[in-house]
Amino acid sequence: MKSMDEQMLIIFGASGDLTKRKLIPALYDLYKGDFLPENFVVLGTSRSDLTDDDFRNRVVFNSEFLKDEAENSDATKAEFAKKLFYKDLGDGYDTDFTPLKERIHELNSKFKINHNFVFYFSLPPSIYETVAKNLAAVDLSVEGVGWKRLIVEKPFGYSLETAKELNIGLQKYFRESQIYRIDHYLGKETVQNLLVTRFSNTVFEPLWNRNYIRHVEITNAESVGVGNRGGYYDKSGALRDMFQNHLMQIVSIVAMEPPISDDPEEIRNEKVKALKSLRIMDDEETLFNHTIRGQYTSAIINGETVKGYREEEGVDPASTTETFAAIKFYIDNWRWKDVPFYVRTAKRMPTKVTEIVIHFKPSHHHIFKDQDFDTDNKLIIRIQPDEGILMKFGVKVPGQGFNVERANMDFYYSDLEEGNNIMEAYERLLLDAMQGDATLYARADEVEAAWAFVDPILKYWNESKSAIVHGYSAGVWGPLHADDLIEGRGFWRNPCKNLADEPSYCVLNIKNNGTENL
Ligand code: BG6
Repeated sequence: MKSMDEQMLIIFGASGDLTKRKLIPALYDLYKGDFLPENFVVLGTSRSDLTDDDFRNRVVFNSEFLKDEAENSDATKAEFAKKLFYKDLGDGYDTDFTPLKERIHELNSKFKINHNFVFYFSLPPSIYETVAKNLAAVDLSVEGVGWKRLIVEKPFGYSLETAKELNIGLQKYFRESQIYRIDHYLGKETVQNLLVTRFSNTVFEPLWNRNYIRHVEITNAESVGVGNRGGYYDKSGALRDMFQNHLMQIVSIVAMEPPISDDPEEIRNEKVKALKSLRIMDDEETLFNHTIRGQYTSAIINGETVKGYREEEGVDPASTTETFAAIKFYIDNWRWKDVPFYVRTAKRMPTKVTEIVIHFKPSHHHIFKDQDFDTDNKLIIRIQPDEGILMKFGVKVPGQGFNVERANMDFYYSDLEEGNNIMEAYERLLLDAMQGDATLYARADEVEAAWAFVDPILKYWNESKSAIVHGYSAGVWGPLHADDLIEGRGFWRNPCKNLADEPSYCVLNIKNNGTENL
C-alpha cells in the first residue's frame, strides 16, 4: 500500500444524505482496515447547527448505514467517532470562512495534521465556485505548508457550457492537479479491471479493433425507479445522470489506446483522446436514427402496482425527461472506424445489471453451414452484479455432422479469495484522493469531451418534434423502438442477474417472466 500523509478531511454538506450514506461508512471501513493514517480527522461542516456529538450521533451511533456485525463494534465505533468533528457555517456557504479556518487550525495543531487538507464538496454544483472562492479568501487553498485537495461530486455541469464555467470557476482558486472530480463508477473494481483485462493479456489486445470487433454493446439497467429523487432527476434525466459521466467513462476505457504506463496522467491522456474521437452527431436525421429515449409507465410488478415516472413525487406530471436512453455512435479513429457502439441506460428494467459485450465478427469464411449468428464470439465483461468475465465460443454438438453450439468460458470474482472483499467504490476513491492518486478521477478535459458529445443529443431531444419520448411499462427492457437501433446486428443482449445466463436459468427481479425468478 502507498504511504499516506497525516491529513484532515473537511466535508462541506456534512448534514446531507451522501455523508451519512456513503462517506462516513466508507471512512469507517477504511478505519477498520487500518488504511487511515494515525493523525487523521474529519471535520464536517454545513449550515445546520450541530455540535460534535450531534454529528457523531447522526452519522455513526444512530446511522442505519454504518453496519458492523462484529462483537466489539460499539467500541470500534466509539473510537472511530473520536476522529469526527463538526463546525457550522452559520447562514450559508457565501460567508466569511474565518471561523471555519480557526476550527481547522485548532484541529490541525491538536492532531498534528501538518496542514494537509482534503475539501470534499458534497454540495449543489451551483455553489462550488463560491465555496472555492471563500476557501481561497482565507488562504485555505494555498499549498506550500501542506497540500490542499478538492473533491467534487457529480453532476459536473448541466451542459458543455456549464461544465466549462464550473471548470473555469474552480481553476481560479485551485490548480487542476488539486481538483478531483468523482465518478463512482471509476471506483468499481470491475471497471478498473477493464484496464488490466485489456493491457495485461496478450490474447485480447490484438483483436481489440475494427478488424475483429463487429460492435460493442453496453447495458446499464436498474430495476428501481427514481424513488424520492424525482425533484433532482426530473431536471437531469438518464443522459445527464448516467450516460454523460459513468457510461462515457466506461466507453473511454473500452476504447482507449494503450497508455505508456500506469501513471494517472498517461491513462487520462489516452481516455480523453478516445472521448475526443467520438463522432459528434449534430444533424437531425442522424440523431433521429441513432438515439432513443423513453419513460417508464405504471405497471404491476410482482403483484404490486408500480408508479409511472410522471406519477413519482417531485416529477412534473407532463414531464418529458427520459428514464431510458439508448444511443448508437461511432468513434472516429484508426482503431474503431465504422464499429458501432450501442449504449443504453435506464430505470425500472427487469433487473439491475451493468455489462459490456464485445461482439466479435463472424468467421470470414463459413465452412459449417449450421453455424448461426448466435454462435459468434462474444466477450461479456460484467461490471455488476455477479462480477466476472464470460467468453462465448462455438463448440461442436456431439454426433454426426458439424452442428455448432455456443459454450461459456467464465471467470467470477467471487472465486477469488480477495473477491469477497471488493472495496466499495467510495472507499477506493477516498483512499486514492487521500494518497494523491488521481487515476480514477475525471480530468476537466475528459468531462468537457463527454459533454461535447452529449450536448447535441440533449438539444435535439429538447427542441425537435421528431424526438419522441417512447413509453415503456415498468419492468420491461425499455421501448420496443430501441430494437430498431441495433437492427442488422442481432439483438440487445438482455442480461440476467446471473452472468452465465442460459435459456433455462435466468434470474431477474420480476416474477412470471417465464424463467427462473427471485
Ligand atoms: C448515480 C445516479 O450516479 O448512480 C443514480 O445518480 C443511479 O441515479 C446510481 O441510481 C447507480 O449507481 P450504481 O453504483 O448503483 O450502479
